[in-house]
Amino acid sequence: MNSIKSLKIKVKKEIKRAQSLKELNLIFKKYLGKKGELSLILRSLKTLSLKERKKIGKEVNALKDFLEKEIEKKAQKLYSTLSVEESERIDVTVPGKKPSLGHLHPLTQIKRKVMSIFQGMGFDVIEGPEIENEWYNFDALNIPKDHPARDLWDTLWINQKSKVKNQKLLLRTHTSPVQIRYMEKHNPPLRIIVPGKVFRHEATDPTHEFQFYQVEGLMVDKDVSVSHFKAIIGKFFENFFQRELKFRLRPDFFPFTEPSFDVAISCLICNGKGFILDEQGKSKTCPVCKKSGWLEVAGAGMVHPNVFSACGLNPTEWQGWAFGFGLERLAMIKFKIDDVRLFHCGDLRFLQQF
Ligand code: PHE
Repeated sequence: MNSIKSLKIKVKKEIKRAQSLKELNLIFKKYLGKKGELSLILRSLKTLSLKERKKIGKEVNALKDFLEKEIEKKAQKLYSTLSVEESERIDVTVPGKKPSLGHLHPLTQIKRKVMSIFQGMGFDVIEGPEIENEWYNFDALNIPKDHPARDLWDTLWINQKSKVKNQKLLLRTHTSPVQIRYMEKHNPPLRIIVPGKVFRHEATDPTHEFQFYQVEGLMVDKDVSVSHFKAIIGKFFENFFQRELKFRLRPDFFPFTEPSFDVAISCLICNGKGFILDEQGKSKTCPVCKKSGWLEVAGAGMVHPNVFSACGLNPTEWQGWAFGFGLERLAMIKFKIDDVRLFHCGDLRFLQQF
């Protein structure tokens, strides 16, 4: 306690004697800085009993407050004696603060990448409305009112009807309605991709969101076949993942394509083997493809004749294929992200990694 008192007297004197801000700064460092005397005393308290520690700790903290105020007072005084030139001088040698720069959201980066790959293969990028009517989202895509396939898409309906055809309005459940809108207005041959937001009425979990992005693809011409689709999608995967990989088509069902397929790529984590080696060199089930060796990434198929008819095109004259994939899914595979909800959580710790 005594040395605290004598320290107080000593430092007060030193502050009084200081002639310049520089000297004052040194005094601050010597006693109040990180390695200053007071910090050392505070650190050494650990060795004392709890009672003593409380008592002395309180004193030291009070002294710290007191000295900080004294130094501040003295600084004001010294500052006011400086000439205008001195007090306004800017030290240009002090390192500047770097402004923090933002960057594109990972999904925007992925979307742009996808667009540029397809644009390189002659596809136009098209957009369509997020609020759709029943005709474009369902009927024109060969999904009539009572068709059980409507259950495939859990729809968010809007409590208002469209003025144009007195149609029920909804938030589009997929980007496929843009196929219809485009083919109504444009004659083939055509190649388009349609990136955009889609909405589904479902509970969220690590692989489901009620709002996400899809990219639709559509190519129509006189003799377009599945082999064109395989060539284009294969080139896309190669470019997107920057490596050669296997992919497969398996039969699936979509009302607007016939035949329909699901498209899967060989798992990038285990290279299609279905298992990986852990740190001890023991093999364990691949956590990403869950042993199958494949990752489903898209739905696709040959455009159904009824879809062409709904757009006013002659199905005996034209052929085409379409596909749709989830942008988040591609981003998750590419960046190895395991929870889709991270994309829209606004957490900078997540976003700054990309
Ligand atoms: N629209 C389908 C979906 O959302 C995907 C798809 C698009 C399938 C085009 C085939 C052709 O699930």
